[in-house]
Amino acid sequence: MRRVPAEAKVYVDGQVLDGEQACVSVFDRGFLYGDGVYEVTRTVRGEPLFLAEHLDRLAASARAIELELPPHPRIAAAVGQTLQALGQPRAYLRIVVTRGAGEIGLDPACADAPLLVVIARPLQLPDQRLYRDGAAVVCVPLRRNAPGHLPPEVKSGNYLTSVLATAAARRRGAYEAVLCDQQGHIAEGASSNLFFVHGGRVRTPPLAAGLLPGITRRVVLELLRGHGVPCQEAPVTRQEAAEADEAFLTSSVRGVMPVVRLDDRPIGTGRPGPLTRALGVWYGEHIGEAPP
Ligand code: PDD
Repeated sequence: MRRVPAEAKVYVDGQVLDGEQACVSVFDRGFLYGDGVYEVTRTVRGEPLFLAEHLDRLAASARAIELELPPHPRIAAAVGQTLQALGQPRAYLRIVVTRGAGEIGLDPACADAPLLVVIARPLQLPDQRLYRDGAAVVCVPLRRNAPGHLPPEVKSGNYLTSVLATAAARRRGAYEAVLCDQQGHIAEGASSNLFFVHGGRVRTPPLAAGLLPGITRRVVLELLRGHGVPCQEAPVTRQEAAEADEAFLTSSVRGVMPVVRLDDRPIGTGRPGPLTRALGVWYGEHIGEAPP
């Protein structure tokens, strides 16, 4: 039996369908090669969170892989139609654009026209306990791409590094995988950005480490600085990460989640720290929803 998320609404090629009805061609290059780009966010009271920023990043990813996106108003309209069909105040939202279907072959010229897909479904946040008690993360042997490879700042359909890293982390009983850069410094989570607190100062790996420029990462840095918390975008070694007083991860769907274990050792007291908790409240105020 096919397992599709209950109550999903999906926009494909101009139509909004129920999740079970929605399908794309097996000749679509997103399916064949991961040849496409995507974004994920959530809604707050029906409105997509940081939509303009997500569409800007989608455009940057598309430029990087020489994919021409459908016009911006068409994407925004498709998002609106899909959310309206779902009719839920809190939704998970995924916007995917592939290079489309066509003759099989690596040459992008084989594709007919880009395919736009929007998936909306009721939001399911991670277990509340992860916010209350904090998450465990583990460093995995997989590295983020080196310069000269497909840059990690491109959110393409090619997500196998993150998929395999997540599988490795889950096998070790951890919630999130930590990926290092080629130097062995911390880069980011498999699907999140990471922050460490030492003596009241916050540090997050710089974009140069090779990571997705997270939209929540940017918002969180602005919020922290606005509250007078010193923040640095600077390399973080594994040793420094292990010696942090507090840590947290960020993503558009999860917001701010405390991290309390790294590689089977507690971070700080092993409980979510005071700065992480304060940030959770500031972030909740910023998006207009109380922290989970
Ligand atoms: N991913 N780093 C990676 C590799 C990511 O895939 C994500 C988000 C983030 C956080 O970015 P943002 O704050 O813009 O959501 C960082 C989402 C959850 C996904 O692919 O499903």
